Amino acid sequence: MDKPESLTIPFRLQRSVLAVPGSNTAMIEKAAASAADCVLLDCEDSVTPDQKSRARRNIVSALNEIDWKKAGKTVSVRINGPESDQMQLDLSIIIEQAGTHINTIMIPKVSTPKDVHTVENLLLLGLQVSGLKHKIGLECLIETALGLVNVEAIAYLSCETNSSLEALHFGAADFSASCQSGIATFGQSNDLWYPSLQRLLVACRAYGLRAIDGPYGNFRDPQGYIDVAKGAAEMGFDGKWAIHPSQIKLANQVMSPTSTEIKQAQRILDALEQAQNSGQGAISLDGNMVDAASGKWAANIMNKTKLIANKLCV
Ligand code: GLV
Ligand code: MG
Repeated sequence: MDKPESLTIPFRLQRSVLAVPGSNTAMIEKAAASAADCVLLDCEDSVTPDQKSRARRNIVSALNEIDWKKAGKTVSVRINGPESDQMQLDLSIIIEQAGTHINTIMIPKVSTPKDVHTVENLLLLGLQVSGLKHKIGLECLIETALGLVNVEAIAYLSCETNSSLEALHFGAADFSASCQSGIATFGQSNDLWYPSLQRLLVACRAYGLRAIDGPYGNFRDPQGYIDVAKGAAEMGFDGKWAIHPSQIKLANQVMSPTSTEIKQAQRILDALEQAQNSGQGAISLDGNMVDAASGKWAANIMNKTKLIANKLCV
């Protein structure tokens, strides 16, 4: 596949993505007041089939009545998946009645580029019918074996003209089921899915998308959450889901550069500048070789720090 020419994906802070069932209004209100960077209002698997219409109504009210922008949140709606007869209803009702307040739509169980095109076309139609000029981004949940087989082609959609694709998320719970894993894991081990996480991350970085790690099911195990989130952060992920308010702070901490990393990044940048002035490309800093690649790492850290300080959401 070709190299992307120029990508115009809006930046959103998504260190923590708090997933909330659309059927639970109390939880939605709490989510708006939480420290989560992003709130994911769910129509899919956390909502039982008999509650789908109620969830849609609640989500429409919450989008219209809560000032999500003032609350500093990116607000995303997870619709039902491409295989579900609810998907079209989710999109048409929510876009028509509250489209202006949505930042992104999350498509679960994306298995092929066609799944994304189908939603993108419906979304554009919904916006047109409602006379909305507002741009809504798309985020895809990769959580089926076929989705991972096609992950590069799905990520590559970001290179299409006017693509709305912004991020890929890894859904370990459905992925376990799809792979017929012997462990009923809700993301409680990075070791198990390391190659899959790595593959998704590389696809995101190749085509300029955000990479987000999904849920960790045991909300009474903060240390386990931190360990798994750290593994994802070290790999390069931008954020992680929280399925309980207690996980928000953990995600925000783990997905932000530490003060030691920021100091180290600044030292590297200073050392490289001095080295360059004396005609050296590679130097030693505390016994480690530092060169242009270290400079790129340091620039990433400084850039992330600046974005977090400005709490940039669009
Ligand atoms: C999220 O939806 C997951 O299946 O992990
Ligand atoms: Mg899932």
